[in-house]
Amino acid sequence: MKFVKSKGLRGEITVPGDKSISHRSVMFGSIAKGTTRIRRYLQGADCLSTISCFRKMGVEIENTGDTVLVHGRGMRGLTCPETPLDCGNSGTTMRLMSGILAAQDFSATLTGDESIRKRPMNRIIEPLTRMGGRITGNGGSGCAPLSIAGGPLSGIDYISPVASAQVKSAILLAGLYADGQTRVTEPYLSRNHTEIMLTHFGARVQTQGTTAVVTPAPELHAQQIDVPGDISSAAYFICAGLMVPNSEIFIRHVGINPTRAGILDVCRAMGGRVSVLNKTSASGEPAADLLVSSSSLHGTVIEGALIPTLIDELPMIAAMACFADGTTVIRDAAELKVKESNRIRVMVQNLAAMGADVQETDDGMIIQGGRPLHGASIDSCLDHRIAMTFAVTGLCCDGETSILGADCVRISYPEFYGDLEKLTV
Ligand code: S3P
Repeated sequence: MKFVKSKGLRGEITVPGDKSISHRSVMFGSIAKGTTRIRRYLQGADCLSTISCFRKMGVEIENTGDTVLVHGRGMRGLTCPETPLDCGNSGTTMRLMSGILAAQDFSATLTGDESIRKRPMNRIIEPLTRMGGRITGNGGSGCAPLSIAGGPLSGIDYISPVASAQVKSAILLAGLYADGQTRVTEPYLSRNHTEIMLTHFGARVQTQGTTAVVTPAPELHAQQIDVPGDISSAAYFICAGLMVPNSEIFIRHVGINPTRAGILDVCRAMGGRVSVLNKTSASGEPAADLLVSSSSLHGTVIEGALIPTLIDELPMIAAMACFADGTTVIRDAAELKVKESNRIRVMVQNLAAMGADVQETDDGMIIQGGRPLHGASIDSCLDHRIAMTFAVTGLCCDGETSILGADCVRISYPEFYGDLEKLTV
């Protein structure tokens, strides 16, 4: 896949449904009573992995492309899978499902692709073990494949060392089955889709600051879920609209949950022209249309509580910072090292190959903006967010940018390149 300098991006776009919300809707629908109807379910490979895992546990799921129907089997209705559950590339599938499996009356094995088998699973093994779960990583490595022998669980009060919605959600889901309340406190608040959606399904989940408390639920009730557009996918068009001269992009119906929408604050702090229009809400999640246009950008500092609200957008933001005047500092973002790739290293190497002045730090990057970048051969390391980031960056570079492993966008946004092309002037 090759990209050259763009003369501008103009038009309207609807990005696919939110990945985090899509995963949760099938998982919660599977253990609820009744049929959950999901509109705009993301048809990316990660969310299809979740569907396939729950089908293997006896859940009937109809996927028509636009609507997904999940015929829930109730809290105790999952059945023992005959083969290992393949999570593909999806951390959300593996970690959240572990919370549910820890409480079942059968054993299961969770596996996935080469990338996920290197990602840290001790962060869920440790708290779920404290609850009474029996989970082992591959040869005690703390990595997948994970063997989970389900059984009775006890509620815990857990102080998480990381602000991670996957960790928080795994514990809260196990907590639905525990013998008392379960509390999870994070250093900063991570995305709260689990808390919002579980409440819709009839569970009792309370939030105080960065603590979420779940009460065991005898039953969940099927829901209609309207999935808003994924702000993590919209991020590529938000930044493209700001970075590429002569651009104006209208992005329809994007989720703007404050625990996810940090990118909007950062764009504004950098001088970006971003308007939030026509606010609505869908299934308890706020959404809006976004209008972005080419802007003269300047550097900023991104740190602390803001980081979990834009963790998946940081690669794109780092690339945008190369086109902003002055210095941008990203810190407190060590979590980037344990995503689908080491996103600090991979971003620094690829941006440097384009001629950027960017320095890797222990927990982020320091970017000196304002230098013109040139096209380069980019290794996506099969990380979808890296591939999409450099497709957009290539539109602002002199010369040609080619992306190795470009097809990995199928993980979260199969139509990405076509959608980007449609906006080309
Ligand atoms: C997700 C949470 C984030 C994010 C991932 C999706 C979720 O991971 O990076 O893409 O759906 O809960 P962490 O919670 O591990 O930071």
